[in-house]
Amino acid sequence: MNLKLSANCAVSPRLQGKVAIVTGGASGIGASAVSLFNDHGAKVVIADIQDDLGNALAESLGPDVTYIHCDVTDEDHVHGLVDAAVAKHGRVDIMYSNAGVVERTTSIVDVDKGELQRTLSVNLAGAFLAAKHAARVMAPARKGCIIFTASACTEVAGIAGHAYVASKYGIVGLMKSLAVELGSHGIRANCVSPFGVLTGIAARDEKTKLMFDGMMSAVGNLKGKILTAEDVAKAALYLASEEASYVSGLNLVVDGGYSVVNPTLNNIMSAGQS
Ligand SMILES: NC(=O)c1ccc[n+]([C@@H]2O[C@H](COP(=O)([O-])OP(=O)(O)OC[C@H]3O[C@@H](n4cnc5c(N)ncnc54)[C@H](O)[C@@H]3O)[C@@H](O)[C@H]2O)c1
Repeated sequence: MNLKLSANCAVSPRLQGKVAIVTGGASGIGASAVSLFNDHGAKVVIADIQDDLGNALAESLGPDVTYIHCDVTDEDHVHGLVDAAVAKHGRVDIMYSNAGVVERTTSIVDVDKGELQRTLSVNLAGAFLAAKHAARVMAPARKGCIIFTASACTEVAGIAGHAYVASKYGIVGLMKSLAVELGSHGIRANCVSPFGVLTGIAARDEKTKLMFDGMMSAVGNLKGKILTAEDVAKAALYLASEEASYVSGLNLVVDGGYSVVNPTLNNIMSAGQS
């Protein structure tokens, strides 16, 4: 029984004895997943390029959490990451490919090719390499679980830039394609697709947080709640756990219903009545 979890919560740890890699695990959603997976009994390897943050998080969580510098766009780094996890823990049960970047430009005419390539390289090629090297060690074991952080922009248009959207649609396509090939090896592949969450450096600024919360309260479909990195990590925990043991090929959208509603008509009718 995991002591940290049993002190806070009456349920059993859901990843007891599992070995997980979390890319982009030094910050934001990834850092929340690292903590939550560890709380649930997993040994976790954080893979990121923010060495100070990654090392500090690993140190704060104890000996079952380690940090490895890994640029997910570099195949040698990803190959070495997976081999290091196997050398330390004997296997990899969960690959959570979460590292990602957001493009800065919104209009298609302003996006330069370098920005497109950077976005696709980290978000899509990085996810591809993480899956490739996880599958390399999971297939012989005939079990494993690969999770990607995609985005709610794969279900509703107009909430992100074009290069980012293209990269995240690519991830969902990759996930479905992997679910076919890797299903024959007993490996599951799924996505978690969040709506907006305040993460990274911006999350540490109280003024930005207040502005962000106000905006999300206004536009979000599910009122009285702002999505947090922990909420997304909990969705990833479900996909990683035995509770999802027959779930594969799923794009699990965590958006409070935003992508399936269109409030325009209601808003116009309400405005007409007032
Ligand atoms: N925050 C949101 O609103 C939101 C919404 C939908 C999807 N997402 C996705 O969630 C994931 C996590 O983002 P976040 O919001 O927690 O942001 P974040 O910036 O806090 O975390 C992203 C992490 O990825 C790491 N990273 C970036 N490039 C890397 C590389 N080349 N190699 C290894 N690590 C790298 C960063 O150092 C950082 O630690 C991303 O894939 C993002 O696209 C975020």
